[in-house]
Amino acid sequence: MRKNKCKKAYITTPIYYVNDIPHIGHAYTTMICDTLARYSRLIGLETFFLTGTDEHGQKIEEAAKKRGKSSKQYADEISNYFKNLWDEFDISYDKFIRTTDEYHQKGVQKAFEIMFKKGDIYKDMYEGHYCISCESFFTQNQLIDNEYCPDCGKPTSIVKEESYFFKLSKYEDRLLKWYKEKENCVLPKGKKNEVISFVKQGLKDLSVTRTSFSWGIKLPKSIDDPTHVMYVWLDALLNYITALGYGADEKLMKFWPANVHVVGKDILRFHAIYWPAFLMSLDLPLPKHIAAHGWWTRNSEKMSKSKGNVVNPKEVANAYGVENFRYFMLREVPFGQDGDFSQKALIDRINSDLSNDLGNLVNRVLGMSGKYFDFEIDSKNVQKYYQKELDDCQKILDSLQQYIFDMQLNKYLEGLWKVLTIANQSISTYEPWVKMKEGKNDEAMALVSLISNILAKVSIFLHPVMPKTTDKISSVFNFTIDNNSYKKYIENQELLEKMKLNKIDPLFPKIEKMLIKSPEPEVKKEDKKEQSNDGIITIDQFFQTKLKVGTILEAVNIKGSDKLIKLQVDLGEDKPRQIVAGIKEFYNPQDLINTQICVVANLKPAKIFGNKSEGMLLAAKDKKSLMLIRPEKFIKSGSSIG
Ligand code: MSP
Repeated sequence: MRKNKCKKAYITTPIYYVNDIPHIGHAYTTMICDTLARYSRLIGLETFFLTGTDEHGQKIEEAAKKRGKSSKQYADEISNYFKNLWDEFDISYDKFIRTTDEYHQKGVQKAFEIMFKKGDIYKDMYEGHYCISCESFFTQNQLIDNEYCPDCGKPTSIVKEESYFFKLSKYEDRLLKWYKEKENCVLPKGKKNEVISFVKQGLKDLSVTRTSFSWGIKLPKSIDDPTHVMYVWLDALLNYITALGYGADEKLMKFWPANVHVVGKDILRFHAIYWPAFLMSLDLPLPKHIAAHGWWTRNSEKMSKSKGNVVNPKEVANAYGVENFRYFMLREVPFGQDGDFSQKALIDRINSDLSNDLGNLVNRVLGMSGKYFDFEIDSKNVQKYYQKELDDCQKILDSLQQYIFDMQLNKYLEGLWKVLTIANQSISTYEPWVKMKEGKNDEAMALVSLISNILAKVSIFLHPVMPKTTDKISSVFNFTIDNNSYKKYIENQELLEKMKLNKIDPLFPKIEKMLIKSPEPEVKKEDKKEQSNDGIITIDQFFQTKLKVGTILEAVNIKGSDKLIKLQVDLGEDKPRQIVAGIKEFYNPQDLINTQICVVANLKPAKIFGNKSEGMLLAAKDKKSLMLIRPEKFIKSGSSIG
């Protein structure tokens, strides 16, 4: 996101499907956008933040049917659930759009009509493969094992129907020119390169209507073809302009083009290829940035209901506090990379970063100012004694804005924590209690005031991430966080005036144990019987696991996954076994070929990311690294271990 010359910012989340209730992936995207929107307002940009729900399409029609509800009834229910959750999470959206809203439907029909009249939409026959879960079309050679969706791994179905097509192929060159000219139009860079190579392979025209179901926006009256409804992605993408009044009262169109569409990596193709092509067809400017974040997984696996490993954001927020949760999500994972959700990591962040580094500092300032100066602070001597500390902090604070514009929220937070480290270290270095004993009251006052000033600045910068918490911190120093205080304390670098501090309750009580029952699938009853209370197993139970040495014959990265590598492993059997392993972060596929590993050979085959996996390899893991367990010397493939 770049600072807009016209002082406006338009930030969007994807609109969420209403086939199911929100999970932490949805919460993550929304928290990122909320942080960007709050930051934009803080620095004085006129901001419009859009979120909403995507309510048409076969997936939702089927989900509603399964529950014996009408599509609209079901969409109303789940859309409300999303809206209520975002309200509970203090998400500061300016508009919540629903694709069943009448103004949206009219705007979409108008856009379709314009594209049609321009000759960019034509009628033909569609024959191919469709994934209902992704609401996406695929060619035969894109499928995995000739059947499964390359994006989500679910089976696709064959569709043969009459359809209107959008001339996507016509926009191939213009798209490539856009990627070339606008360096940051798609972020992060690695993902942009994937988009470019996809387009370079050649774009096929896109089927933009369906006839096999009815839950969708009808074609415009002027086209008069009532058997067709619009393809859900055409309908959905247009929300970014219909929300601004496109096709109706266009008052809000002043916000277009969007500064940033934040999306998950799985839907980048729709946003970075289809959407700009639609906009080109409509003669509208293109968004400034499309930023794709990674996926949250559990134990490196995709979350899914069937695995019972879905993390419910509401549950996490209720247990740990919504702002702590928000801090964790934004701090833990670099933008664009996948992250594994664990309560332990969340608790570590709360106890260490929030409680120790930040909460304690607020307590210490209150404690010291109370004990020595009756809660008074005075900044008049801060520069005299602690100019270096002020300058060091300022240098870091000056670098923060760029991190926001580059979507590197984790670095932004890291920077803020470096500033807190300067504050914490200056207390241990200068020991105000010693200064008081030595009668250097001026220096001790300057130090307590230095820390107060640092905390005031940190609270302003942290406000977009933790609004309520930082409001409490700024109340200690008698100011409200808004664009005025931003100008005063950040832009003009004024110091706090002489004042009495206000006491507040401790901000982050330490968390001693996991507060949510782990969302792992429960151990089945029969398995439980076998286990003794202390986790000890018998030798027979151990030998139920067949461990073998395997030789890796082939290794390739799995497209679309940041973690997975697909291996062909010789276990001394008729043919090699295919094993999917979450080791991409630690190993290069090329380096694995012709090396040996230890394999659990009698595991029930599973489908991981759409790929069959017929075993599991053994590895040792700590927080930072993972190492494959290997035999000491080369041994025959298939040799048993035990
Ligand atoms: N309706 C479409 C978007 C249309 S936008 C014009 C859609 N909806 S979704 O509900 O399936 O997903 C919405 C967002 O949630 C996507 O950005 C997706 O990447 C994100 N996530 C879904 N699961 C996720 C994780 N496990 N982790 C992180 N985000 C993921 O796609």
